[in-house]
Amino acid sequence: MLKTAICDLFGIETPIFAAAMGGVAMGELAAAVSEAGAFGSLSSAGFDVSGVLHEIETTRRLTQKPFAVGLLIPLLREGVFEAVLAARVPAIIFFWGDAGPFVQRCRAAGIKVIVQVGSVAEAVQAKHAGADAIIAQGLEAGGHVRGTVTTFVLIPAVRDAIGELPLIAAGGIADGRGLAGAIALGADAAMFGTRFIATRESAAHPIYKQKVIDAREDQTVYTMLFDIGWSDAPHRVIPNHTIAQWERAGRPPSGQRPGEGEVIGRSKRGGLELPLVRYGVHNPSGFVEGRVEEMALYAGQSVGLVNDLLPAAEVVRRIEAEACESIVGRLTPLTV
Ligand SMILES: Cc1cc2nc3c(=O)[nH]c(=O)nc-3n(C[C@H](O)[C@H](O)[C@H](O)COP(=O)(O)O)c2cc1C
Repeated sequence: MLKTAICDLFGIETPIFAAAMGGVAMGELAAAVSEAGAFGSLSSAGFDVSGVLHEIETTRRLTQKPFAVGLLIPLLREGVFEAVLAARVPAIIFFWGDAGPFVQRCRAAGIKVIVQVGSVAEAVQAKHAGADAIIAQGLEAGGHVRGTVTTFVLIPAVRDAIGELPLIAAGGIADGRGLAGAIALGADAAMFGTRFIATRESAAHPIYKQKVIDAREDQTVYTMLFDIGWSDAPHRVIPNHTIAQWERAGRPPSGQRPGEGEVIGRSKRGGLELPLVRYGVHNPSGFVEGRVEEMALYAGQSVGLVNDLLPAAEVVRRIEAEACESIVGRLTPLTV
């Protein structure tokens, strides 16, 4: 078993966190991860109040263990924060901006505050705002990327800057070797995004899961391209036809790109049908129909380490076992 100080704080058995991934981490995945003794989370991205509450209910139906809800500050829809507060979820993960204005209300509701940051300066700001834990995200990460340096460089620098505050490393970590490495760098835990896309309980479209399994570590790109719905926010994706077509056109700016705004699919969920456009921010979930391969296929460089579709609990079990093996079999014998 692997245990760090963060386990007691969050009521988990092993220091493994699953990322709150838009379009991927819904109630089923969050619950499966938490049931396995790790910390599951669900993303509120793209949901209104009733959508978020539905996912919270699903999670609670499937597990009584703690989990988090992810809130993207720039995309927060009206009433969503208040609804999550009222639902008294165990923790909220804030991303992309200043969580300061939200912290006291979370505290008052007994909700732990986790802030995902991309730099030392942001980590210090989150500490001063009163965060219970910080996630530091490196440049290798999948999805929207706040980090501008690698996880290997960022984690020790953030640790030095925030003292003993619980720290979770994110970006480029997909197995137990990475978890052991993150702990060695000064983190108390690691957060895994890309690894959990290719799980049975992930809400990602089957074609998207297969793309993650097939891609190598050098087959992601850091881009600003999928900006309709969320602009000026860099992200990392697996290249596809939309990117190839844009490159062939000479990489024109937004507003002049080939097929811009063209409807390439539909999201059908809970009786609601929404059109999805080319260069849109949405990634393909299982409830999306259309030209799935041409949508934003968010994934991190850790795709190179994801080679199979597994139940989420098995991912947790393997990561923990491998981290123990790395520490006991590889690191400890090196000490004399
Ligand atoms: C498909 C996908 C969607 C994501 N959506 C969110 C999100 O809605 N909120 C959030 O805080 N982070 C989001 N992230 C970023 C993760 O929190 C995390 O930083 C990242 O997955 C870590 O890198 P890794 O993918 O190499 O594990 C997303 C990541 C991916 C891969």
